Amino acid sequence: MRLDKLIERQLQTSRKQMKRLFLMGKVQVDGETVYQENKNVDSSIHTIQVDNQTLLTDDRYYLLNKPSGVVTANQDRLPTVFNQLRVEDRRVDLSAVGRLDRDTEGLLLLTSNGQLGYDLLQPKKKVTKVYEAIINAEVTAEDVTLFGEGITFHGGESCQPAKLEILSRKLEESYVRLTIREGKYHQVKKMFLATGKKVIYLRRVAMGPLTLGELPTGTYRPLTQEELLQLKPYFR
Ligand code: URA
Repeated sequence: MRLDKLIERQLQTSRKQMKRLFLMGKVQVDGETVYQENKNVDSSIHTIQVDNQTLLTDDRYYLLNKPSGVVTANQDRLPTVFNQLRVEDRRVDLSAVGRLDRDTEGLLLLTSNGQLGYDLLQPKKKVTKVYEAIINAEVTAEDVTLFGEGITFHGGESCQPAKLEILSRKLEESYVRLTIREGKYHQVKKMFLATGKKVIYLRRVAMGPLTLGELPTGTYRPLTQEELLQLKPYFR
């Protein structure tokens, strides 16, 4: 969470008192004096000391293996990604980092750390997203080249170069892995549509340093300490 909010909340300071603590050099993160009031911190990966007191955050980070049929929305008539959480893990401040289509499965990060979520989605951060997909046709070496050069959607919008790997293929169906660094609406489906092919199954298996691993579909788990440490560069 933001350092200024943490100080105000935990030390019960006024905004002015909080600002004074920064000005006086009393705020340290990982042993270094910081002056950036909106710095994003988490006490499981940062040592936060203010006026010699150690402050603790309580943000949550859940890695969900989203099943098909579930929507990435706060509220809907259909089951949502938040309904997948046990009641004791539901918090009003949780949000999804990006969205997966209703019929897409796979890795979705749910967190109460809105700043981290926002930063992971910034195009300039170029966070990789890896998808595995079944395509309704034979994906060819030519497609690999086209994706590598940058696909242009029907309608003219262009995508950055993407890495397409063919895992197996037959005339009527292919299994592929696609790595992209953007998050356009329906991006993967539209990329294949641009080559005249249709995605018939889609699953996200990785986002940045996070991977789905063997997490069963429809289940979730908190991020490990190691995973949070891997996300540390995104805490700005
Ligand atoms: N691209 C898509 O087309 N759909 C998703 O759910 C994610 C990426």
